[in-house]
Amino acid sequence: MPFNFKIDHHTNANLTHSTFKEDVLLGMLEKFKGTINDEKYGFFHLTDNKEHLVKAKEVYSQFSDRKYFVQVGIGGSALGPQMLLDALKKDNGKEFIFLDNTDADYISDELKKINPKESVFYIVSKSGGTAETLACFSILRKLLLDSGVVEEDFNKYFIFSTDPVKSDLRELANDHGYKALDIPSNIGGRFSVLTSVGLLPALFAGIDIDALFEGANNIKENLLSTDTANNQLLQTAANLAYLLNEEKVPVNQTVIMPYSSKLKTMGNWFVQLWGESLGKFSEETKQNTGLTPIPAYGATDQHAQMQLFMEGPNDKTMFIVEVKNKETNFKLDNNIGKDSATKLNGFTMNQLIEAQLHGTLAALKDRDRNVFHMSIDRNDEAHLGAIILFFESLTAMMGHYLLVDPFNQPGVELGKVFAFKYLSKIK
Ligand code: PA5
Repeated sequence: MPFNFKIDHHTNANLTHSTFKEDVLLGMLEKFKGTINDEKYGFFHLTDNKEHLVKAKEVYSQFSDRKYFVQVGIGGSALGPQMLLDALKKDNGKEFIFLDNTDADYISDELKKINPKESVFYIVSKSGGTAETLACFSILRKLLLDSGVVEEDFNKYFIFSTDPVKSDLRELANDHGYKALDIPSNIGGRFSVLTSVGLLPALFAGIDIDALFEGANNIKENLLSTDTANNQLLQTAANLAYLLNEEKVPVNQTVIMPYSSKLKTMGNWFVQLWGESLGKFSEETKQNTGLTPIPAYGATDQHAQMQLFMEGPNDKTMFIVEVKNKETNFKLDNNIGKDSATKLNGFTMNQLIEAQLHGTLAALKDRDRNVFHMSIDRNDEAHLGAIILFFESLTAMMGHYLLVDPFNQPGVELGKVFAFKYLSKIK
C-alpha cells in the first residue's frame, strides 16, 4: 500500500531550515527522545510490540457474534475510537453507539437503538473511577436485568478496559470474572487511542489494526530523524514555537481542518489532545499558557468559519489536511441549464473538493495566514496510524517548549471536586 505523509509549511515567518539553528532543533529532539524513552510515558513505543493487538483479537473472537457494540467512556476513552470508526469503519452490519455523556435524554434515545441481548458493552476508563462512565455502567446493568439477564451472566455482556493495577473497574473484573483489557499505566486517556481503548471497537468495525500499528511505526524514523530539515515533527514544532513568540500578535490558536467528512471527528480528538495537554499553568514560567485548538472541516467550513480564518485576528496556525485519493467519485456532468451548474460539466466531485482545498490554501497564503498543508495518499489505517502518532508526538514536543507537563490535567481534577461538593449539597 503506498504510504505518503507530507507537510508543507506556509507560515508568516516563512521558516526554512536556516531560520532555526541546528543545535536548537537537535536540542528539541533530544528532549523529546528523553521523554519517549522514559518508562513513565508509553505512547510512542506502544506500537513496537504486538501484545496489545493479540489481546484485543482474543477478546474480540469471544464476542464477535454481537450486532451492537456499546462503548461507555468519556474524553480519551471515547474520542479516539469515534475518530477511528468514522474514518475507517467497514460496512459489516455491526452497529455502534457511544455513551459519552451524562445527558439522560441522549442515553435513552441511544439505548432505544439496540437489543441488549445482542449487544456487548465496553466500559472504558483508565482510572476506573470516572463518574460519567460509572453512571452509564449502572444504567446498563439495570437495562440487562430488565431484559432478563441475571447478574451471574453479566460477564457475557460486559468487557472492561482499564489500568492493569490501580482501578475500581479492575477490581470488579477480578471479583466477578469480567474480561478486562489493559490501558497501560504509562499511557493517559488522550494518548490511548492505539491501546485496547480503540483497538477493540476497531476490530468490531472491521478495521485492520495491524495496519494501524504499521502506519504509526512507518513514521517513527522521520519523527526521530536528525536530518532536521526533513524531520516533519521538528519543523512543525519549530514553526509553531516561532510564531508564538516572534510575531506581533502571538499565534496561539491551532485550527485542524481535514477536507474529508470521514475525518471530521479527528477534530474532536485533536481538540482534547492539544487543549488538555497544553493548556496549563506553567510552574516554571509562572504563566498560564496553551494553544487553543479549533476543529473545522472542509469544504463545509469554507461556508462557516473560513471568513474568520481569512480576515479575523491573525493569531492562528491551520493544519489543512488533504486526502489525495478518495474511494469513490461522481461525475458532475449535468443539463440543469444554468451557468452556475453548467460550469461543473466535465469535472468530478473529487476534482471539486481538491480545487476548493487548493483555492483556500492560495487565498490563505495571499492573506498572509499561517498554514501547514498536510497531505496523505488515502484515508486508510496506515495513514491514520501515522497521523495519530505525529500529533501525539507534536503535543509532547510542544509541552517541552511551553514548559508544561503535557500528560497531566490538574484543572479537570478541580472541576470534579467541586461537582461532588455540589452533589452532596443537593442530596
Ligand atoms: O486524557 C485524559 O486523561 C482524560 O481526558 C480522560 O480521558 C478522561 O478524563 C476520562 O478518564 P478515564 O479514562 O479515567 O475515565
